Amino acid sequence: MLSESLKGDFPLLSRVNYLNTASIGIVPRPVIEKVRGLSLELCSGGTCALDEEKETMIYEGLRKEGAKLLGCDVDEVAIFNSVTEAMNAIAWSLDFSGGNVVSTEVEFPSVTYPWMRLSKERRFEVRLVRGRNWYVSLDDLLSSIDENTKVVAISHVEYLTGQLHNLREISSQAHDVGAIVVVDGIQAAGYVPVDVRRLGVDVYITGSYKWLIAPFGATVAFISRELYERLEPAIVGWRSTERPFDFDARRIEYAGSARKFEYSTSAYDVKVGLAESIRYLRRIGIERIYEHDMKLVDVFFEELQNVNGVEIITPSDRREHGSIVTLRVDGRKMDAVVRRLRSADRPVEFSIRQGMLRFSPHLYNSEDDVIQAVDLIKEVMRE
Ligand SMILES: Cc1ncc(COP(=O)(O)O)c(C=O)c1O
Repeated sequence: MLSESLKGDFPLLSRVNYLNTASIGIVPRPVIEKVRGLSLELCSGGTCALDEEKETMIYEGLRKEGAKLLGCDVDEVAIFNSVTEAMNAIAWSLDFSGGNVVSTEVEFPSVTYPWMRLSKERRFEVRLVRGRNWYVSLDDLLSSIDENTKVVAISHVEYLTGQLHNLREISSQAHDVGAIVVVDGIQAAGYVPVDVRRLGVDVYITGSYKWLIAPFGATVAFISRELYERLEPAIVGWRSTERPFDFDARRIEYAGSARKFEYSTSAYDVKVGLAESIRYLRRIGIERIYEHDMKLVDVFFEELQNVNGVEIITPSDRREHGSIVTLRVDGRKMDAVVRRLRSADRPVEFSIRQGMLRFSPHLYNSEDDVIQAVDLIKEVMRE
């Protein structure tokens, strides 16, 4: 069992049944040590600890790992601090006005807000596809894309329900009408094998602190060569240029890669942390982690299928979900379920979103963790 061999790297798990990676992932001990060591060095050493070459190599190290994670070339990776920042930086750099941007009403707000804000300047429609009981059908999505669509902005896996979208179909339809597809992959990358070429997307953004089990403050974004070559970044600074350390304030000569979307210094220790976490996950194997996480989701489904008063909102087909299981519990029992889960000897950690319970197992969880959580829910539902 995967989780057994990793126990020593995640000491929290002996005290807590942590089923909340969709909110925040637990960082493995070797990564914490690496980040802490570098943070100490940088804080106490100034330029004795960080010269220009080291500063460059920190970013290039993460860029290389990001490219392997996403299945693209190194020149197509830009590094940001958060998914929200990357989404805005890219949205404001796109060269269109009029038409429409397609997204969904069940999205995480950072996926729709940048387009809503931008639409006030550029006068386009933000078209939010309706969800039925939080599920957005592929047919509804595809039929919302028309010849005026400029962008489809969507999560790979939905934060609330764990619904996994068919990005290949969406990209194919979007490209047929000349639109681009911008994906928020923060709820997928780290366990869903990602190959941006196979998916056919134009932008794929993913952040550090959930399934990539790294500290806050680092994000990698694939921006296809075709796209970055024709875009001018909306936010610029000293790092956006081909030779940042020339500090030439008279002219901007953009970097000839996705790096032109980067603009400033940032928390270098966490950039190293994300690179280290990606290495950690890839050493284990993303496919293997995917199988492990999906097995745990299967156990949730098997155990909760016929429990009175519990409705599973997450789509049951493996092709349509990630490692998130969301439940609607009979309103009269909800408080008691939450109390029981939180007051167990080994308390269960989970999220409440839109009045529902969201569980999100990852590589450090075991089947026993799922069974414990499910048994507590069943106990309350039987009372
Ligand atoms: C789908 C999705 N996108 C974006 C975010 C937030 O990302 P960031 O904090 O890096 O902006 C979250 C956080 O829960 C999320 O679930």
